[in-house]
Amino acid sequence: TDITLKLNNGTTIPALGLGTWQSPKGEVSAAVEYALKETGIRHIDAAFVYENEQEVGEGIQKAIDAGVVTREQIFVTTKVFPTYHERVEESLNESLKNLNLDYVDLLLIHWPLGFNPKGNHYLFPTKEDGTADYDFSFDIVKMWREFERIYKTTKKVRAIGVSNCSIPMLESLLPHVEVVPAANQIESHPYLPQPELLDYCKQRGILVEAYSPLGSVGGPLLKEQGILDLAAKHNADPASVLISWHLHEGRVVLPKSVNPQRIKSNAVLVPLSKDDLEYLDKLSEKYGIHRYNNPQWGAGILKFPDWQ
Ligand code: A2P
Repeated sequence: TDITLKLNNGTTIPALGLGTWQSPKGEVSAAVEYALKETGIRHIDAAFVYENEQEVGEGIQKAIDAGVVTREQIFVTTKVFPTYHERVEESLNESLKNLNLDYVDLLLIHWPLGFNPKGNHYLFPTKEDGTADYDFSFDIVKMWREFERIYKTTKKVRAIGVSNCSIPMLESLLPHVEVVPAANQIESHPYLPQPELLDYCKQRGILVEAYSPLGSVGGPLLKEQGILDLAAKHNADPASVLISWHLHEGRVVLPKSVNPQRIKSNAVLVPLSKDDLEYLDKLSEKYGIHRYNNPQWGAGILKFPDWQ
């Protein structure tokens, strides 16, 4: 758990973080506290839209109060949701208040798109027909300018980045930036390896952070025979194999769990061989799957036969 990586502005980032998407309010505080106290995890990935930042903050505070960690020793990320694309600092301030922090280590554009800020819901506005109420005036360059301003003129963020950005979306942003995004947080696991996007980010100094590394809730990845075989070979948990794949290849990885046992075992690195890594890199190819990157929507959507 003590592997660290460097962001392009020199900031150190612990490579293994705890994801908090879909972590229930009643459980996430204890999960965060446990991760910091008992497993050596020093990185917590939060977001305004997860609606549990207050509880995440309580978990952090408990670990600090117990004297296990200081604020400076941990790395906390939050994200600005599309409904707030024109109110970046308002969203950040709200997250900081919820998390009970003075600053976050990394602030991300959560999705490269906009929702109607004056719609019928503060997070997920819908039109009369029930479909998403987009704001097509969304301009990622304009939103990024605000990120840059906050980064340069306040002490509220130590680094800034993006999430769910495909190559075309990054192409539309990067020629216009003063500060190159420090990270791109994307869905990443052996069913969605996106090698072109990984290479693209690497060449430009953008660190890739893998969310849903286990294939998210109910996904078939943890039942994939080849992964079970690798786990058996290394006498490890299948989830540890998936997590270790990212760590071996120099990515940040953000498995979500609220279960102490699983948080602990997810922090155990499996020493994968070159062949193991190659197998994981190429696993998706055996399905001959249809994979595509939608430039408006984000990093990619995978249609899998047994994906519920
Ligand atoms: P739980 O929180 O009860 O542990 P992802 O990180 O890809 O989004 O996956 C998260 C899902 O995987 C959650 O449902 C989480 O449930 C479950 N999970 C987390 N760690 C493990 C593990 N080591 N083995 C099996 N399932 C896990």
